[in-house]
Amino acid sequence: MRPGNNALFIPGPTNLPPALRFAMDLPLEDQRAPDFPEFTLGLFRDLKQVFKMADGQVFLFPGSGTGGWEAAITNTLSPGDKVLASRFGQFSHLWIDLCQRQGFDVIDVDVEWGEGVPLEIYAEHLMADKAHEIKAVLVCHNETATGVTSDVAAVRRVLDDVGHPALLYVDGVSSIASIDFRMDEWGVDLAVSGSQKGFMLPAGLGILCVSPKALEAHKQATSRRCYFDFADHIKTNADGFFPYTPAMHMLRGLRVSVDMLLEEGLENVFARHHRMAEGVRRAVDAWGLRLCAKEPKWHSDTVSAIMVPEGFDGNEVAKLAYLRYGLSLGVGLSKVQGKLFRIGHLGDLNELMLMSALAGAEMAMRDIGIPVEAGSGVAAAEEHYRQTAAPVVLEGAQLSAG
Ligand SMILES: Cc1ncc(COP(=O)(O)O)c(C=O)c1O
Repeated sequence: MRPGNNALFIPGPTNLPPALRFAMDLPLEDQRAPDFPEFTLGLFRDLKQVFKMADGQVFLFPGSGTGGWEAAITNTLSPGDKVLASRFGQFSHLWIDLCQRQGFDVIDVDVEWGEGVPLEIYAEHLMADKAHEIKAVLVCHNETATGVTSDVAAVRRVLDDVGHPALLYVDGVSSIASIDFRMDEWGVDLAVSGSQKGFMLPAGLGILCVSPKALEAHKQATSRRCYFDFADHIKTNADGFFPYTPAMHMLRGLRVSVDMLLEEGLENVFARHHRMAEGVRRAVDAWGLRLCAKEPKWHSDTVSAIMVPEGFDGNEVAKLAYLRYGLSLGVGLSKVQGKLFRIGHLGDLNELMLMSALAGAEMAMRDIGIPVEAGSGVAAAEEHYRQTAAPVVLEGAQLSAG
């Protein structure tokens, strides 16, 4: 055992705030108690605020983001339906793989890892699809493997410009509740998230938001489904219950998570994530390294994937950081294995916590011989955080960064 806290800076699971841990430190309870709906109906209602959705329905499945992907597609598509998707990292790849294994006909557009959803190519496919055979357009909002955020609103514009009626599906597992997401305004039909990232909880819930249009599509969709069938949830959720034993402790935690997010204010949560991420990006510049994300427009405010120089192994950085300093960094996955390491900067986080991760990453990089200057990344981040810190009033005098 190492004294002190281990530092968890993978891009999910994220830090579990004490308030959420305490919220789940409860005796087990009766999921059919007559007063249970008072709790669940309020939770469904308030979760919609996090997704910025007025109508439509929230679904809470015991599971994780992967279960959410499966629920989204099997509830709204029929076997053989055409799906338009792009692959630019491990998670966009896995969603495509899941669609293929479920028997859908996927037009999978391969994109260089480090870029995001290719708007022009999506437009070409949608324009050419005069018969409207494409039923689903998939967007991985934040590709966690490469630290790339895509422009969901722009995909909606492409659909509208072409006049294509396909449903818009968004993987928001590592974006929702951390960076800007607008279900209604962006015309998203199915948004998938999980409990262990922006919601700051352990893994255990697949969280879905479904638009009225997608709820209509559900009625016609003939894909086989059982555990994840919306219909069973629609029937029981209406009265505040579930079709099977819900993950009660997770729901209690989620209640407090939603309260925390709404109390801080979603726009403040997004601004905080941007500020944290910007400090990390300054550190990467100061180290003389570059991000996997090829252009600033793709920069993710929840995870930075940092390329290591030729001849070095990013997974070695993560391994050493963990074994020597008790710091968990994300490793490179699949195609980018060894080429990078990742710093997750989402959830319950502040600048001093993040600076410990930057210091640890810097130490581990130096330990394996990557030529970064001692303290350079930390100094750059420190300067950014000082310059952008909220002013503090102390004994009548306004103090800001000098
Ligand atoms: C963007 C994205 N989508 C989907 C998933 C899969 O979610 P889960 O591991 O909760 O099943 C992840 C997991 O990290 C992810 O980052």
